[in-house]
Amino acid sequence: MDVEKTFDVHRIREDFPILKQVVNGKPLVYLDNAATSQKPQVVLDEMNRYYLEENSNIHRGVHFLSDKATQSYEAARKKIRNFINANDHREVIFVRGTTEGVNLVASSYARRFLKEGDEIIISAMEHHSNIVPWQMLRDEKGVKLRVIPMNDNGELLIDEYETMFTNRTKFVAIVHVSNALGTINPVKQMVNIAHRHDVPVLIDGAQAVPHMRIDVQDIDADFYTFSAHKMYGPTGVGILYGKRRLLEEMIPYQGGGDMIKSVTFEKTIYNDLPHKFEAGTPNIVGGVGFGATIDFINGIDFDAAIAHEEEVLGYATNVLSDIKRVRIIGTAREKASVLSFTIDGIHPHDIGTILDDDGIAIRTGHHCAQPVMIRFGIPATARASFAMYNTKEEVDVLAKGIHKVIEVLG
Ligand code: ALA
Repeated sequence: MDVEKTFDVHRIREDFPILKQVVNGKPLVYLDNAATSQKPQVVLDEMNRYYLEENSNIHRGVHFLSDKATQSYEAARKKIRNFINANDHREVIFVRGTTEGVNLVASSYARRFLKEGDEIIISAMEHHSNIVPWQMLRDEKGVKLRVIPMNDNGELLIDEYETMFTNRTKFVAIVHVSNALGTINPVKQMVNIAHRHDVPVLIDGAQAVPHMRIDVQDIDADFYTFSAHKMYGPTGVGILYGKRRLLEEMIPYQGGGDMIKSVTFEKTIYNDLPHKFEAGTPNIVGGVGFGATIDFINGIDFDAAIAHEEEVLGYATNVLSDIKRVRIIGTAREKASVLSFTIDGIHPHDIGTILDDDGIAIRTGHHCAQPVMIRFGIPATARASFAMYNTKEEVDVLAKGIHKVIEVLG
C-alpha cells in the first residue's frame, strides 16, 4: 500500500467495504466503534490468503506450510512490538483479547505474589473486565480493592489516588481510555506515582490503542493489554505486553501444548517467553490478520487520522450539546472517540432502536461499566463512538436522528 501523507476520510472509507452497506433503506452510519471497529479490505484479504496458502499449525511442524505459518505469526508479533515500542518481542504475548490479558495478570501475577490484606487500586471507571478478575482474587485470597473516585466530568481524582497508597498497596489496574465516558486518563503520571511506591501497574488499553500512539516504554507500564478488533483488526486476538522481568517471575495460568519445554508425569519445564503464556493452538489467522492491521495503520498517516477523529468528536460534542434534553455523560477535558449521552425522559434502548431504523448504529446500555452508571445516577446511556472513517456528515445524520427520537417519543 502507498503511504498517504495526508488523511482523506473519503478515501479511507473505500478501504472498508462494509461501510457502503444500506441498512433499513438508509446508508449505514456506523458509530459503535468502541464495541468493535470495522475491518479494512487488506486485513480481510490477508486472512483469506493465510487460509488459502499457508494454513497449518505453528511452532510444531518441520514441513513447509508450518514453517510459513510460524513465520507469518511471529512476524505479526514483531510488528506489534514495534507498534507499541516494546523493548523485546518476548514481552508481547498473544491473548484472546483485553479481557484475557487482565485475567492472565490477575492469575499469574497477583494470585502468586499478593496475600491476604494486600490492596489493589482500580478506578471508578473500569470496564467489568478490569473489576471482576480482581474481585475473584479478593474472594479467593482476601486481598482488598480500593477505588479511585472521579468527578462529575468523569475525570479521576489524581490527588486522591496519590493518598491511597499504603504499605499494603501491591498492585494498580487502571483503564487508559474509558469505554463508557471517553476519558483519557493520565496513565504516565499514574504509573509514575505507583512506581514511587514500588507498585506495578496494569493498563487496560482497549479503547486507547485505536485512537492514539502508544509507547509502553514511555508510559513505563508494567503490563499493557489491548484487543485487535477495536483497532481495525480481527476478533479473538489481542496482546498482553509485560515487562520481561515480571513475566519471567510469573508462572503460567493455562497449561497445554506449546507452553512447555518438556513434560514427564513427575515434572514439567515451562517454555521460554512468550510461549510460556500461550498454551494450545492459538488464533493463528487472527494473529496474522493483526499483523496486517498494523501494516494498514503504518501505511496511512495515523497522526492525521487521530487528528481527524478528534475533530469529529469535538464537532459531535458541540452538535449534541445544542440539542435540548440531551445530557452528555463524560465531559472530561481529555477525551477520545466516545460520546455517551442520555435524553431526558427517554430510555437509551428506545433511542438506539429508533436510530437503527435510520441505519445509525450506536450502543445503548451500561457498556459493561455498571459502576459508572451508578456514579452518574443513570441506568444506561446511548453511546456514539467514532473511528477514523467517520465523518461530520454522519454526525449530522445522528443529530437528525436524535431530533426524530425526541419528536416520536415526546
Ligand atoms: N467493551 C466493549 C464496549 O465498550 C464491548 O462496547
